[in-house]
Amino acid sequence: MKALILSGGHGTRLRPLTYSQQKQLIPVANKPVLFYAIEDVIEAGIYEIGIIVGPNADQVKRTVLGREWDAEIEFIYQGDPRGLAHAILVARDFLGDDDFVMYLGDNILREGIVEHLNHFKRGDFDATILLQEVPNPQQFGVAELSEDGKTIRRLVEKPKVPPSNLALVGIYFFKSIIHEAVKNIKPSWRNELEITDAIQWLIDHGYRVGWTKVTGWWKDTGKPEDILDANRLILDDIKADIRVRTNARIHGRVVIEEGTVIDEDTVIKGPVVIGKNVRIIDSYIGPYTSIGDNVVIENTEIEDSIVLEGSEIRNAGRIVESLIGRGVKIINGTSHPFGRKLVIGDNSRLIL
Ligand code: TTP
Repeated sequence: MKALILSGGHGTRLRPLTYSQQKQLIPVANKPVLFYAIEDVIEAGIYEIGIIVGPNADQVKRTVLGREWDAEIEFIYQGDPRGLAHAILVARDFLGDDDFVMYLGDNILREGIVEHLNHFKRGDFDATILLQEVPNPQQFGVAELSEDGKTIRRLVEKPKVPPSNLALVGIYFFKSIIHEAVKNIKPSWRNELEITDAIQWLIDHGYRVGWTKVTGWWKDTGKPEDILDANRLILDDIKADIRVRTNARIHGRVVIEEGTVIDEDTVIKGPVVIGKNVRIIDSYIGPYTSIGDNVVIENTEIEDSIVLEGSEIRNAGRIVESLIGRGVKIINGTSHPFGRKLVIGDNSRLIL
């Protein structure tokens, strides 16, 4: 059994953050989203992992190899991201004729994949997909089940009249017949080789496609609000771990890493994670906030937000539900002319 984790794609919906970094590397609770997928795969006992890389290949390699993994990891260059089924096509040599799990590197699944893998193995399916009940199936790829409910009859992308409320989650198990399927499909209207078309090819040619239901939460972190949501969900499960001495007032579950200095006028209400070498002065850090390494926060209230490494926020009033990139400065100016002085990248969003 192998794993193919997808860490390519353009990530246009996450601009401007994705102008300078691959979206799967954006940290949620101070850990790159991609690492959650790698950990799930290793937890399921899969030790041969291929990671599909695209536009920012070197950045992904550097980040992944910056940590020890209990697995062999190979990077597979996709070139232009031409669809999820295209990723399987370019990984043909790595995958050989082995069974594999394909895991979209921007998805986070709380329960991991162990149970889902067991179902795939036990049921002797040619493929299994993961489904989750959603209130708005019109916005997802949706599955129509067979009469006995055990297999999939049809997959429909963003249906106006959904055949069920079961949406496709970005994790799939395949036997090697999938290679035949991806060779035989044509690019879609958006010029991508769609994994749903490849799975439909299997069904139409008499292969058994099973499914399992996701019972815990699942998050596709494709948009800024999804990243904040994933941050809340992960922080809901953290355990307190404070590795520095501080006289700040700390309530609830809070993680603070080495080298961080927080003064006694600061109040922190968990769940909160704070990285290494952060300085916090006379501020309030409220629930569901993740602060990356080397950040400075002074005389500011921040809550329900993510601040990435190296940013500086001083005298900034109250910040909520915000996703702040790397090396950002938010400062209250003290020189004439007064007013908001902005240097903002393309596709940024400011709600004042
Ligand atoms: P998407 O989120 O559907 O595509 P995207 O990354 O291009 O994002 P956007 O729509 O905002 O431009 O991709 C799902 C996952 O698969 C994501 O982790 C990126 C990855 N991917 C690849 O690795 N190769 C591909 O060819 C595509 C389309 C996606």
